Amino acid sequence: MTDADIKKGLAGVVVDQTSISKVNPETNSLLYRGYPVQELAATQPFEAVAHLLWHGELPTADELAALRETERAHRALAPEVKAVIDLLPTEAHPMDEVRTAVSALGAAALAGSGNVLAAGGSAEQNLERSLRLFAQLPAIVAYGQRRRRGQELVEPRADLDYSANFLWMTFGEEPDPIVVDAFNRSMILYAEHSFNASTFTARVVTSTLSDLYSAVTAAIGALKGPLHGGANEAVMHIFDEIGSADRVAPWLDDALASKRKIMGFGHRVYKHGDSRVPTMEAALVDLVDHYGRHDVMDLYSALENEFVARKGIYPNLDYPSGPAYNLIGFDTLTFTPLFVAARVAGWTAHILEQAAANALIRPLSAYVGADERHVPVD
Ligand code: COA
Repeated sequence: MTDADIKKGLAGVVVDQTSISKVNPETNSLLYRGYPVQELAATQPFEAVAHLLWHGELPTADELAALRETERAHRALAPEVKAVIDLLPTEAHPMDEVRTAVSALGAAALAGSGNVLAAGGSAEQNLERSLRLFAQLPAIVAYGQRRRRGQELVEPRADLDYSANFLWMTFGEEPDPIVVDAFNRSMILYAEHSFNASTFTARVVTSTLSDLYSAVTAAIGALKGPLHGGANEAVMHIFDEIGSADRVAPWLDDALASKRKIMGFGHRVYKHGDSRVPTMEAALVDLVDHYGRHDVMDLYSALENEFVARKGIYPNLDYPSGPAYNLIGFDTLTFTPLFVAARVAGWTAHILEQAAANALIRPLSAYVGADERHVPVD
């Protein structure tokens, strides 16, 4: 075996089939179960897209009503999960908090399931667990931000849909429909993206016949890494550093001279632009108009134009979503947990798919260590 035979980072390796989503870098398109993501974002509530990812079809009116009933019934933060979160220091990284909360939820949900194989669960059990986890994550993320701000837990509202309730539980105020719509679009855009690192992690854990909560906990660990989640946070730090549109050119001179990566630009798969950006940018424009913050759009456009002109590298989804979440009022530290709440729909769809046609994921390695040797005998 030569070095050329080794696919470091599994780059270019097709490891399995999937019918959940299709990323097409040539046409900058992203399909969930065949539907262009921008059409879904323009027309669907996030709950319906989660159903589509899990079941392969958009829900009928009755199916959506049933899903919403279960989702609303499981929205309140589970007391045992709140107790575990409250044990963590408020300075804990929010992704550590979310990962710990999901792990605690799993321990409670699987208590009494006897052995590991039983905990792995049937397809029906895993669908039910997927929906419950989907319903709990807004409570976990919203409470995390409130706790860091020294605020009390806000109980869910059963009269609001998923996205409106998420904002209600975070801010304790009835959200404006324009804000709900922009937020809903962002959740749909973040929900799924084929075999990315965290999704693959979830599939690896599932392939050992471990349980859904373990797979999602591991996926959250993978998403925490700055090469995966987290770039939307970094975009906000860059915006804060630059300050205003007129300072973009000198800031970029310095940044490029010191070979800095400009967060929110570039993508491993999309090389001519990220299919999700136009939809998220439109949501950002709506928020900018709503909040009267045209200075944000001036800075956004100035940096994009200048960077694309100089490097020919295009923005990814994190570029518009960072300032959008900031305008809505989320703390920068909450941005990656929001990604978790959205991506859990995709992760769990992949867990169901992996479990339905499982093969243990266990690649090989080329050994480059010491030749066989023996412990010296005195
Ligand atoms: N800022 C500055 N230069 C960048 C860049 C960025 N955001 N993205 C890529 N480049 C440059 C690299 O420096 C490299 O230049 P070189 O050939 O002179 O060394 C070239 O473009 C290729 O970059 P590379 O990192 O090899 O591309 P990749 O496909 O492996 O990387 C990312 C993709 C996403 C890791 C990379 O674009 C990046 O780090 N972007 C910023 C982080 C980010 O926004 N991540 C969210 C992704 S959704």
